[in-house]
Amino acid sequence: MQDDSMVPGLHPLLAARWSPTTFDPTFDLDTAHAELLVEAARWAPSAGNSQPWAFVMGRRGDDTHQRLVRHLAASSRRWAPSASVLVANLAHRFVDGTDWEYSEFAHYDLGQAVAHMTVQAQALGLFARQFRAFDRDALAAEFGVPTHWEVTTMSAFGRVPPTADTSARERRAVGELLWKGP
Ligand SMILES: Cc1cc2nc3c(=O)[nH]c(=O)nc-3n(C[C@H](O)[C@H](O)[C@H](O)COP(=O)(O)O)c2cc1C
Repeated sequence: MQDDSMVPGLHPLLAARWSPTTFDPTFDLDTAHAELLVEAARWAPSAGNSQPWAFVMGRRGDDTHQRLVRHLAASSRRWAPSASVLVANLAHRFVDGTDWEYSEFAHYDLGQAVAHMTVQAQALGLFARQFRAFDRDALAAEFGVPTHWEVTTMSAFGRVPPTADTSARERRAVGELLWKGP
């Protein structure tokens, strides 16, 4: 493992990205910027341009945000509610009323769309933390998500206070990522 985040030449939007668990609870994201996050996801590539994603977005203080917060696990409840925006990330898994896959790449494509959102967030001076620590089934029921869609993850977006802990990020070395065969 090594802290690669300062590698020369790595784009600053990628090098500076990290996933906070401390957000500024006084910072409100305006509507135009919240919509830009969705716009970034919209322009992500997907298999056959299937765009197998949808998002439930709540801004702190609104009704959707309150309904999302209700289903956080104890661990994420400690930090996620103070983010400016919470988003539930939904994958289009099946064709309605069947067990046929809508796209075998639905999760892959959703992940890529969320990655686009995180980079757009970074460009807006925001940070994001994706997370699994919430009740997926309860959240699906809360928002009437049908069974051919899957509530997959959530993302929290917001500003980070200057005092936030930016401890070193660890990664496997590049040499380990390049497949050399079995
Ligand atoms: C699919 C996914 C699920 C995650 N689930 C959680 C989670 O439940 N709780 C949490 O605190 N962080 C969660 N994370 C954040 C990761 O722990 C974090 O991205 C990782 O440690 C790398 O740190 P970095 O993003 O700061 O580089 C999740 C990230 C992803 C992509």
